[in-house]
Amino acid sequence: MKNAEGEDGDAFLERLFRMLNDAGTALMLSVGGRVGHFDAMDGQAAMTSSDLAARAQLDERYVREWLGVMATGRIVTYNRDAKTYQLPAHRADFLTTRAGLANLTLQANYLSLLGQVEDPIVDAFRNGGGLSYAYFPRFHELMAAESGAVHDATLLDVTLPLVPGLVDQLTHGIDVADVGCGSGHAINLMAGRFPTSRFLGIDMSDEAISVGRDEARSLGLTNAKFDRADAARARL
Ligand SMILES: C[S@@+](CC[C@H](N)C(=O)[O-])C[C@H]1O[C@@H](n2cnc3c(N)ncnc32)[C@H](O)[C@@H]1O
Repeated sequence: MKNAEGEDGDAFLERLFRMLNDAGTALMLSVGGRVGHFDAMDGQAAMTSSDLAARAQLDERYVREWLGVMATGRIVTYNRDAKTYQLPAHRADFLTTRAGLANLTLQANYLSLLGQVEDPIVDAFRNGGGLSYAYFPRFHELMAAESGAVHDATLLDVTLPLVPGLVDQLTHGIDVADVGCGSGHAINLMAGRFPTSRFLGIDMSDEAISVGRDEARSLGLTNAKFDRADAARARL
């Protein structure tokens, strides 16, 4: 019997299976992005699993299984006779480092991150309480990779000019705080562009703050500072 959306049990079951299949493919997109498979296949002729393993210096057995998932998920094409795989350009445009903001393997990384905290989340459903950022390994690294690409593409020339007069104020020199600055790339970008303003990045994570400090140091910025503080408790 169909429900109000015109869906019966069979159609729902098919949709569920598709979800589960796609979820498996998404996890392998995350793995492929991290080990560099998409970059290694980008713009290349069709290759065997041994070719890709040699190019990426990875274990061929694992590479073959990964390629199997990518072929069945219609991410790469497969030539049965030659046993070769190829990444079409129109898909590489959304899976590679060169894709920048459009690289959706970065989003897939968050799915595997969530999988890693399933046990404590189940526990929290039963017992309440919350999970601190420390439970999410690689959170700051992923956040920095994703938001860094956005900041690089838009912060200085698209986002800041949206606030009337802000670029003029930054040019003349003001004090700026970014509360929850993460790894601080936004602070460092602005500090580089507006040397007469002073920038303070605040975050509760030591790990994130130290990345921001290192970047400021490597860029020779003297107008960017970082403080580790919990904004919910500290008097800023
Ligand atoms: C979604 S991330 C965004 C990071 C950064 N703005 C960016 O664009 O990459 C949120 C950040 O807020 C920080 N944060 C959350 N609660 C905070 C608090 N109470 N005090 C300080 N930082 C906090 C986290 O550690 C995390 O780095």
